[in-house]
Amino acid sequence: MQNVAVSKTLAPNSDRFVQNAMVLATLNENDPNPAIIGCSQRMQAVFDLVDKVADSDSTILITGETGTGKGLVAKAIHQYSNRSNKPFISINCGAIPENLLESELFGHVRGAFTGATVSKSGKFELAHGGTIFLDEIGDMSPDLQVKVLKVLEEGEFEQVGGAKTIKVNVRVIAATHRDLPEEVKKGNFRQDLFYRLYVIPIGLPALRDRRSDIPYLISYFIKMYNNKNNKNLDGISDNALEVLMNYGWPGNVRELRNVIERLVVLSGSGQIAANDLPKELRVANGYQATQSIEVTDDGICLNSAVTEFEKDLILQSLEKTKWVKNKAAKLLQLNRTTLVEKIKRHRIQQRAS
Ligand SMILES: Nc1ncnc2c1ncn2[C@@H]1O[C@H](COP(=O)(O)OP(=O)(O)OP(=O)(O)O)[C@@H](O)[C@H]1O
Ligand SMILES: [Mg+2]
Repeated sequence: MQNVAVSKTLAPNSDRFVQNAMVLATLNENDPNPAIIGCSQRMQAVFDLVDKVADSDSTILITGETGTGKGLVAKAIHQYSNRSNKPFISINCGAIPENLLESELFGHVRGAFTGATVSKSGKFELAHGGTIFLDEIGDMSPDLQVKVLKVLEEGEFEQVGGAKTIKVNVRVIAATHRDLPEEVKKGNFRQDLFYRLYVIPIGLPALRDRRSDIPYLISYFIKMYNNKNNKNLDGISDNALEVLMNYGWPGNVRELRNVIERLVVLSGSGQIAANDLPKELRVANGYQATQSIEVTDDGICLNSAVTEFEKDLILQSLEKTKWVKNKAAKLLQLNRTTLVEKIKRHRIQQRAS
């Protein structure tokens, strides 16, 4: 597979979108703001939304599974907003112990708690004029949720241990991998804060729900890691692409990126072949594909989906029985000759491990 043109991609230069261009050839991989690749209808809708909301000051809530690009989209919104020359301050609310998070967000005065030997500005203050990105906001304790709500409503807060009210002008973007309405129902997340955040929701689809993006992402990452590692990998074979297209990608784009990085670093030259792919991915492939065939927004071809389904089940049975065809045929309740015919028809071959 050669580099492919991306019809519309959020690119890290002044043009918001690059259309009908050989984007993969023109993107500058040294740009500190990476491109966001996406040709599927669902990602195009996300790009349109980013375009529409960037310049407003509305609060944005980005949701999506891990590795779907929530952080990238938050940064892009800031970059395309009229606050872009002001700070973009990011804080991962899930990664900081609760007792430190308040002081990280709002700052503290000297002597506010043991160890507070000097006063310190918090992230809201540092983000003044720009954007604050409250990542993993679903992990925040209810006590802090109240304080964040106050900043959102009134644009002001006090430092920990401080009496002075500090006013800030900050655009808030929040993200979570959690199902916030569900967390509200369970009593873990405040309903008032949820509604205050849920002004403009942006839902990032899982990679398995936008498989048409996979070839573009692969090309992009191959180019990126070729350049980083001074390698010259020449794309990916159709067989290998098929395995990657059918995989479930629980870690979404981040997982795909890591797989490609590993392949580029370990590769010689030529194309990535199916045999080069990590074994767990190839084995999972047959299994995952049968588990997750679904009609996506891009539509699917029923005939080829059914054919793929049959092929996957045959492959699974062969892997399970270490390619003893008698045993595999039994597992599938077929006679051996029928199985052999099907193996031929599907051109299934045992891969070297
Ligand atoms: N559409 C995309 N185009 C190009 N690269 C992407 C895209 N989406 C994700 N990535 C890659 O995946 C990595 C992970 O993305 P990001 O950190 O934004 O995900 P996330 O949704 O914030 O994940 P988490 O919930 O784990 O924080 C990025 O650093 C980037 O390399
Ligand atoms: Mg993130």
